[in-house]
This record gives sequence, C-alpha cells and structure tokens, in this order.
Amino acid sequence: MNASSPSPAQNQASPATLYGGVTNRRVTVRDLAAAKQRGEKWSMLTAYDALTAGVFDEAGIPVLLVGDSAGNCHLGYETTVPVTMDQMVMLSAAVVRGTKRAMVVADLPFGSYQESPAQAMHNAARLMKEAGVGAVKLEGGERSARSIELLTEAGVPVMAHIGLTPQSVYALGGYPVQGRGDEAAHQLLRDAKAVQQAGAFSVVLEAVPAELAKQVTEQLAIPTVGIGGGPDTDAQVLVWTDMAGMTAGRVPKFVKQYANLRAVLGDAARAYAEDVRAGTFPAAEHSFH
Ligand code: KIV
Repeated sequence: MNASSPSPAQNQASPATLYGGVTNRRVTVRDLAAAKQRGEKWSMLTAYDALTAGVFDEAGIPVLLVGDSAGNCHLGYETTVPVTMDQMVMLSAAVVRGTKRAMVVADLPFGSYQESPAQAMHNAARLMKEAGVGAVKLEGGERSARSIELLTEAGVPVMAHIGLTPQSVYALGGYPVQGRGDEAAHQLLRDAKAVQQAGAFSVVLEAVPAELAKQVTEQLAIPTVGIGGGPDTDAQVLVWTDMAGMTAGRVPKFVKQYANLRAVLGDAARAYAEDVRAGTFPAAEHSFH
C-alpha cells in the first residue's frame, strides 16, 4: 500500500458526505443509510449508456438508476412495459462500464419478477452477474414484499418503488397522482412499511402528495427517494432526459429542466449539415495530406 492509497478501514468507512466524500470506491447502501442519519440529501439520475453515465459520475451524482424508463426515454417505446431483461442487462452493463463511483441500481422490468420470488431472484442475479450492478429496483409495496424478502436474504440490495408505478400504466389508466384521500394514504404508508420490513434499503415514492411523502419519510428508517413527492424526501430522482431538456414535448409537472440539450444538439446537427452543404466542412485542418 502506498501513502496515498486508503487503508482497508478507510475503504469501508462511510464518506463524510456523499458529495465529495470517498472517491476510490463505489457508493454503498451503508453510505446511503449514513446520509439519512446525518440528514444529508442526495440525488439520483437515470442513465442508459456509458457516455452519459460517465458525465453524471464525474459530476458526483452518487446513485445512477438504469430505469426501465429506458423504454420511453431511450428505446422509443410508448411505455416501460415492453422493456426486456436482455435490454436491461445490456444497458446496465454499459452504465457500470462508464462509471467508477456511483452505485448503479437497475430496474427489474415488467414481467421479470411478478410471477414469483424465485423469478425475481433469477433475474436480479442476472443483473448483478452479467451487468455488475450494485442493487436492483422493483415496483410494488405489500404485493412485492415476499420477493424483496427473498432477494435481501440472498444478498441482493433492493430499492423498492411505490406510489405511481409506471409498469401498471394500463391498470391505472395513465399516470395519476397516488395516495390522495385517507384510504389511499393509509395504503401508501402500509406499502412503505412493508418494503422496509422486507429488507429494502431505500424506497422510491413517485407522484404522491408532498405532505404524505414527508410523513412516510419521517416514519421510515430507510431513505426515501422522491419523484413528484415534494421537497421533504431524503433524496430526489429525475429521468435524465427530462432534467437536461432532451425530452420532446411536455414533461411532468415535477420536472425541473436544468438545460436545453435538445436545442443545443439540434443546432449543432443543423450547423454541421449546413457546412457540408456549403462545402465548408471538412476544411484544411480536418484533412490529411
Ligand atoms: O424507470 C425509471 O426511470 C424510474 C424512475 C422514474 C424512478 O423508475
């Protein structure tokens, strides 16, 4: 070991902060638990390829989600429903290859875990062994608790996802806000407690009233990750194409756009095409002699 390399003890320790903390290893579930203890909020972004994942990793985003939102945000489907395990393995492996520090969480896509806990285990193992992810995410509260239990007992870190669960888009008739009204709010609390009890290390709360997300966050020991859940969850997640302004058309109310990459890329492509048409590209400096 040289003077600059960390001791094994340093390697194990949680960083002082998730942002700018230990950078010689990936973020772990223990780091996220410690962040909740000290009240540090953190961000998660989706990623679907090595190039953009590398940018987010260098920017210090501690957790990257290979979401099945790849279906509508990357692969051109209308919903997440058609996404397959083979696609998730391929995209997840690329994100792992493109990053050094972020914890990479991969979604179990629709149809890859609902049949039985054994099916969930089989496909979670594929994501860990073939793609190298550090955790998996699956949708459902009480209804998914048995699978979460089996996975966590087997050593698979599980992020749960409750509230609006996009894989149920056809059953829900769209993407409505969840947890409104007493009965729905009580069910969301039961779901949150069920996934924590089953061993999930964290839970996504999608499209739920801010007051309810706050209540869930206060009642859980594990970190909550909000998307359309207001400001009081322990962490926030956004789909990267929404966050960076790559998405065509309207984005959900809960999105803040931090850039307009669609316009920037479109302008670059138009300028390139115009140069080619005009014969000004390639110029002398782009040519071999
Ligand atoms: O698939 C996805 O991107 C997600 C996030 C919206 C949480 O599940």
